[in-house]
Amino acid sequence: MATRSALTRNALAANLPEQVEVAEGGLTRPESLEPALQGVTAVHLLSATGPDHVPLETGAHIVDLVRAAGVRRVTVLTTGADGPVEQAVRASDLEWTILLPIDVMSNALGWAETIRSEGVVREPYGERLTASVDIDDFAAVVAAVLVDGGHSGQSYRVTGPEALTPGEKVRAIAAALGEDVRFEELTPEQAREHWRGQGWPEEGIDFMLTMWATVPPTVGTVTPVVKQITGRSPRPFAQWAAENSHAFR
Ligand SMILES: NC(=O)c1ccc[n+]([C@@H]2O[C@H](COP(=O)([O-])OP(=O)(O)OC[C@H]3O[C@@H](n4cnc5c(N)ncnc54)[C@H](OP(=O)(O)O)[C@@H]3O)[C@@H](O)[C@H]2O)c1
Repeated sequence: MATRSALTRNALAANLPEQVEVAEGGLTRPESLEPALQGVTAVHLLSATGPDHVPLETGAHIVDLVRAAGVRRVTVLTTGADGPVEQAVRASDLEWTILLPIDVMSNALGWAETIRSEGVVREPYGERLTASVDIDDFAAVVAAVLVDGGHSGQSYRVTGPEALTPGEKVRAIAAALGEDVRFEELTPEQAREHWRGQGWPEEGIDFMLTMWATVPPTVGTVTPVVKQITGRSPRPFAQWAAENSHAFR
């Protein structure tokens, strides 16, 4: 019986490390979760799915199954929307903690193709500041909350140690590569065409443009959550860029 397992919709494609117990299932198909939940006492849940981060309408059903399986502690990775998953955990008797990563550093991997082929990153809204978090730091927060407890009923914004513009991130990647990489600001209309050319789905493009046009100032506000919960300092973007420079070569 699995007590530590990772859920995936496709076990063959997931490419998880050997020591991870893999459970196949999907959050849009709650019935598929029952075997995955056997013997589990703590769960990390997504609240949205897909390129446009659609809230999971199955939230109440998922939370019912989680409770029925005997799970006590739950973290929710939220997009900031108060969707069915967030509402169901809040209304439950579970020890819940809602975690919002404003933006994860690895989203910059989406720039790899044009950096490799043209030495350039093209994006709209070049002035926006984002306090992105390294996914390893976010995962450390999730693990500490689920294993150690002590954060029941709390909602946290989880950020890295600094707020950067896309141009500043591009400069950090260029420094890690030891090569010139330019940042070119696009209008929203140019960005739509650019992303279409890269094969993005329309709903993903709409999501990004709407989000960036209406981005609240808190997206650029650093929080002390990583340090407070894990005891370790959050990693700066330059470190992420250095460790992932191979992806841009
Ligand atoms: N990227 C960000 O900056 C950001 C910020 C805030 C919140 N989020 C949220 O974080 C989550 C992951 O974002 P991402 O950009 O990394 O998205 P992603 O690449 O689409 O998904 C990453 C992971 O989520 C799993 N997943 C997605 N939908 C699932 C479903 N219906 N059932 C089971 N597993 C599912 C995938 O598992 P398999 O493909 O292996 O099944 C994969 O392991 C999403 O809920 C997103 O809304 C992201």
